[in-house]
Amino acid sequence: MNDKPTVTVVGSFCVDILIRADRLPIWGETLLGRDFYLGPGGKGGNQAAGVARMGARTHFVTAVGEDHFAQLALDLAKAEGIDREGICVMPGAKTSVGFGLLDPAGRSACITDLAALSRMNAAFVDRFEPQIAASDVVLTMLENPVEAAAQAMQLGRKHGKLTILNPAPAVVLPGEVLRDCDIVTPNESELRVMLGLSPDSKEDDAELARKVRSRGVNTLIVTLGERGAMILNDEGQQHVPPVRVEVIDSTGAGDAFNAALAVALAAKTPLTTAVQLANCAGAIACTKLGSIPAMGRRDEIEAMWKKYYG
Ligand code: RIB
Repeated sequence: MNDKPTVTVVGSFCVDILIRADRLPIWGETLLGRDFYLGPGGKGGNQAAGVARMGARTHFVTAVGEDHFAQLALDLAKAEGIDREGICVMPGAKTSVGFGLLDPAGRSACITDLAALSRMNAAFVDRFEPQIAASDVVLTMLENPVEAAAQAMQLGRKHGKLTILNPAPAVVLPGEVLRDCDIVTPNESELRVMLGLSPDSKEDDAELARKVRSRGVNTLIVTLGERGAMILNDEGQQHVPPVRVEVIDSTGAGDAFNAALAVALAAKTPLTTAVQLANCAGAIACTKLGSIPAMGRRDEIEAMWKKYYG
């Protein structure tokens, strides 16, 4: 890859609180869990950390509260070499929290309260147009108002940058938002929710992917967990096989995938290779507890790529 591509991540910072349990509690029940983890996260925080660890210049545009948790965002930026100018403290607000449960197999389920993130609107994103204009790629998600994600994609398009939307958590998006996205990266459940279906509906992935793409998306990349990833674009449909690892905690695997994809494409890596690198980043992110502690570095991701795809 070329040296120092630049990526702007417009998205969420959350403080992650994770506990592993043998099963989900029912309402009114307290369960004893284990493997407690507290640290910086959020899809945007994870993606910004992943981008920085891939060696890219990283701008992170997000909103935090006027509280102790906000410091974790600033500490993350300092530790990872992320530009912190876009980390904005919202007066009177609380920093968002991602409250996650892990099962013994490392699968995660998470609830997020947007808190300060709900103040990210189009005007907020506009303040960071110079960073977007100076980037190769703009990466955003939906753990912030759709308005902020839409504006990030629109500004990216205006300046001729590659625009990537990770539609997580998914909603049904208007066609005009999708048309500003060069690449959209749902997982299997998000693919369904984007079409107004139930997250576990049984329709065929490829058929659903074609439906989402027909709404104006150039390239759709569906992450399929342990089945790898599917690329759908003008050149047709392609399956990229997975890399299998022992899963400790899958929290943030999708974020690692998106971060590596963004940096690889910013460095003009061919799409199939970029998705292979992203698969490796996602796999590495499953091998430790917590999302950011597990996020791989470029040399580790490239070494795994050589082993499995090279
Ligand atoms: O994608 C994983 C992230 O989603 C976690 O870090 C948590 O914050 C949730 O928002």
